[in-house]
Amino acid sequence: MRASCVLAATLLWGCSRAGDAPRPPSGFDALREVMVRDTIADRGVQDPRVLAAMRKVPRHEFVPEAQRRHAYEDRPLPIGHGQTISQPYMVAIMTEVAEIGPDCKVLEIGTGSGYGAAVLGELGKDVFTIEILEPLAAEAKRTLKRLGYGNVRVRAGDGYRGWPEEAPFDAIIVTAAPPEVPEPLKDQLKVGGRLVLPVGTRTQHLRVLTRTPEGFVEHPLFEVRFVPMTGEAQDAPTGPGR
Ligand SMILES: C[S@@+](CC[C@H](N)C(=O)[O-])C[C@H]1O[C@@H](n2cnc3c(N)ncnc32)[C@H](O)[C@@H]1O
Repeated sequence: MRASCVLAATLLWGCSRAGDAPRPPSGFDALREVMVRDTIADRGVQDPRVLAAMRKVPRHEFVPEAQRRHAYEDRPLPIGHGQTISQPYMVAIMTEVAEIGPDCKVLEIGTGSGYGAAVLGELGKDVFTIEILEPLAAEAKRTLKRLGYGNVRVRAGDGYRGWPEEAPFDAIIVTAAPPEVPEPLKDQLKVGGRLVLPVGTRTQHLRVLTRTPEGFVEHPLFEVRFVPMTGEAQDAPTGPGR
């Protein structure tokens, strides 16, 4: 892991000729470097592969032209259709706790701009991502293709029932909050797999569920604020025991 981090840093900073001093990053690369250092690494994200992916994925390519100058601020930004690209710190921490190894098959619910899927695509083997708003799915698909993320597949539709034809998954990340954990997503996890998602309505908590041979172990993380999961999640019965 250390070697891939050094390699990523070498590629980012580059060398014009053997023996030259490394060029410092400039423009968006420099802003991204500062964002990762000050708002992600300094706040406790430690996995070197996650940090390398966050240093590599060009967030400015996933936001509308008018938002580009804000692309490396650590906050959600509007991407149209009433939706947002997630805050970079949140993408990093959710990705870290999902433990995406190089052989992982990953499902993401809530493609949005495709930025989170690109980060997952840097880390895992195959990424499947579902977006309920068709125009966002189409735009994310175009962006991911243009940037060369051939290991990410985008589907337009309601992600509540996951992607059964491709299950089981090593990790599932949900970027919109359902009122309760969707049972179909739990069913599509491998034993040992991790489901990372915000749950709740007015108050939401980020949760990590790990599938064990006996069932699920759950770790609540912290309070968060995501857009609601729409579609079937809004109809599913809620209450104690679910
Ligand atoms: C916070 S945004 C996602 C940000 C995204 N990860 C990114 O990097 O741009 C949440 C997305 O989830 C989508 N969404 C909400 N409910 C959904 C559902 N049932 N199935 C799939 N996508 C859903 C929203 O339309 C929105 O685009």
